[in-house]
Amino acid sequence: MSNNFTGIVEKAADSDYSIIGFNIFGYEDAIAVVRAAEEINAPILLMTNKLAVDHMPVEYWGKLLGSIAEDAKVPVSVHLDHAKEYELAVRAIISGGFSSVMYDGSKLPLEENIAKTKEIVKLAHSCGVLVEGEIGSVAYSDIDNNVENVYTDSKEAKLFAEKTGVDWLAVSIGTVHRLQNQKAVIQYDRLKSIQKEVDIPLVIHGSSGIKDKDLSKLSTMQIGKFNVGTALRLAFGNELKNSVNENPEEFDRLKLFKKPMIKTQEAAKNKMEIVGFNKNN
Ligand code: G3H
Ligand code: ZN
Repeated sequence: MSNNFTGIVEKAADSDYSIIGFNIFGYEDAIAVVRAAEEINAPILLMTNKLAVDHMPVEYWGKLLGSIAEDAKVPVSVHLDHAKEYELAVRAIISGGFSSVMYDGSKLPLEENIAKTKEIVKLAHSCGVLVEGEIGSVAYSDIDNNVENVYTDSKEAKLFAEKTGVDWLAVSIGTVHRLQNQKAVIQYDRLKSIQKEVDIPLVIHGSSGIKDKDLSKLSTMQIGKFNVGTALRLAFGNELKNSVNENPEEFDRLKLFKKPMIKTQEAAKNKMEIVGFNKNN
């Protein structure tokens, strides 16, 4: 199926469900989440992040994930997540393999974030690529990333959205990246004041750490996309450890990957059900 995603996230923001963008680290988790999406007829984004593009060039990711997206029976789009370097975002845009990119200028001063994001939007839109920007910062729970939480101010969000022309806006309302437990405390009042000022789809990062009941409630609000990474990495990685431990003589990784792929598919399906998808959608 075509990976043209225009309007899909926008519709989700206006409806009582949301789309999930899953962080992907290889063929195995990509195909597992697509199978899960096909089971319940949900559109999804396959997202490649900094760790993934340090491992394999962004252009290769576009081709691999683009091929998977094209063959899927549901709308699947390919997204570059958290591009902090301008050049990386440009490479993804001109490669032709991505239908959307996130330019993450969240650590920059507001004016610089606006100026750089605006430039990316201009180039991306001329190539038919959608852009996600971020205002405020979502912290990381691991020590490798020195990013503190800066909660999104609604007036800044309005200014940023208007001046940059981004399609989707990532906001910081209490989530934290890479939590292994669901313990984020969502600031609903902050979200409501952002919603009063901004009418484009909002994106929530660090969604692995959101409690199921909050995920479900947020999906009925103006959230177009949830980014989920750690929950699937845990599902895949923990099952891979089990497979290795249970089969100490086995050296063939294709055999060792089978069960982790099933666990990943189950974990992805579970998250999509929580944000409003089921077989009847
Ligand atoms: O951009 C990626 C996400 O925000 C994923 O966060 O790994 O905490 O689910 P997570
Ligand atoms: Zn993120």
